[in-house]
Amino acid sequence: MTTTLRTARLTLRPLAAADAPRLGALLAGESAIIRMTARLPDPYTEAAARAWIAGGAAANEQVFGVILSASAELIGCIGVMREPGTAGLGYWIGRGYWIGRGYWNRGFATEAARAVLDWARGDGLSAISAEVFHDNPASLRVLAKLGFAPAGDVERDLPARGGRRRLRRFVRRL
Ligand SMILES: CC(C)(COP(=O)(O)OP(=O)(O)OC[C@H]1O[C@@H](n2cnc3c(N)ncnc32)[C@H](O)[C@@H]1OP(=O)(O)O)[C@@H](O)C(=O)NCCC(=O)NCCS
Repeated sequence: MTTTLRTARLTLRPLAAADAPRLGALLAGESAIIRMTARLPDPYTEAAARAWIAGGAAANEQVFGVILSASAELIGCIGVMREPGTAGLGYWIGRGYWIGRGYWNRGFATEAARAVLDWARGDGLSAISAEVFHDNPASLRVLAKLGFAPAGDVERDLPARGGRRRLRRFVRRL
């Protein structure tokens, strides 16, 4: 799928092979980012990025690179994964939901997620969920800003994060 979304400052577009060096550079040495995602390998290398992109997205997922429209810089990734009648935001997508450290706290994750929520609504979805580690205050804050409501804890098998982990689940009606 080749959906491209635009916001005031961002362009969200599918990842391409040419993005691999930039993904590798943004995540080099960034265990603090990687360990907040479900599946990104740590350490994350350009080769890992190349393999992820070449592998493509699953049929039920849409992954976007987050691009600063003014400079065309790739600054992170976000995605949605469809479940029957609903969808999961970011967390479960192969490349995760993250913004490079140099771009934090400027509202980019919130702005990107709003665009994805609007797109999901337009695509006929009625709700979207997200799951977050307890010790991730920035992500919890983003979900609060977006109007997600707590929906209890869940346990997931996350081999890349050391096995069975407890997460906080949130749901947002669209
Ligand atoms: C979570 C993440 C995507 C947020 O990206 P971002 O572009 O900085 O997000 P925003 O600027 O839209 O919002 C961040 C909010 O968190 C707040 N915040 C940041 N660090 C915080 C902390 N340690 N404690 C509490 N709030 C914090 C910011 O102040 C901001 O809230 P505000 O607008 O009310 O001031 C980014 O921190 C990241 O990539 N983290 C690592 C990967 C990750 O956690 N991914 C999500 C997995 S569920």
